[in-house]
Amino acid sequence: MNLLVIGGSNSKNSINRRFASFAASLFENAEKELVDISKLDIPLFSVDKEQEIGIPPLVLTFAEQLDKTDFIVLSLAENNGSFNVGLKNLLDWTSRIKDRKTFAGKPMLLMATSPGPRGGASVLETAKTLFPYSGAVVKATFSLPSFYQNFDMEKGITNESLLQQLKEIISNITID
Ligand SMILES: Cc1cc2nc3c(=O)[nH]c(=O)nc-3n(C[C@H](O)[C@H](O)[C@H](O)COP(=O)(O)O)c2cc1C
Repeated sequence: MNLLVIGGSNSKNSINRRFASFAASLFENAEKELVDISKLDIPLFSVDKEQEIGIPPLVLTFAEQLDKTDFIVLSLAENNGSFNVGLKNLLDWTSRIKDRKTFAGKPMLLMATSPGPRGGASVLETAKTLFPYSGAVVKATFSLPSFYQNFDMEKGITNESLLQQLKEIISNITID
């Protein structure tokens, strides 16, 4: 199985990118491809920009990655209760490709983490409601609260109960 692993943030040192990579490592027998939004130099979407330049090549590449993958692992950064602007920009551009539903009907593990005790619960809830309209099949959700208390950058989730919860969620995921 091929996984597309997306950190939903344009921060260079995104905790969500690190967390998404860790979660992906818990899938057995999977090939992983990582999307680092901080490295994608994509103009800010506007209908005027779109008319001027068309769809940027990096957005077309992202759409191809979505088309090719078997499963998406996405962890969302929460900024003021909503999406990180880098992710939103990428998704808005992708939605403008002709005849496309952004996530192309692909199954997804949708997650969020933040340094706070709610672990990005607001953006996670928003995405869980909205992403199916953009062609995502959300198979499961998971929020990791208080990132710096519960995650070690090398070892991954350090809280045994949260680690077991995530492992169980992943082992129960079925892909048609
Ligand atoms: C502009 C801004 C708004 C933020 N808003 C929230 C928020 O609403 N909820 C939250 O839990 N953390 C919030 N944070 C803290 C982020 O969760 C924290 O910066 C985290 O590292 C973001 O994830 P990332 O490292 O993957 O980008 C905010 C941070 C910034 C810079």
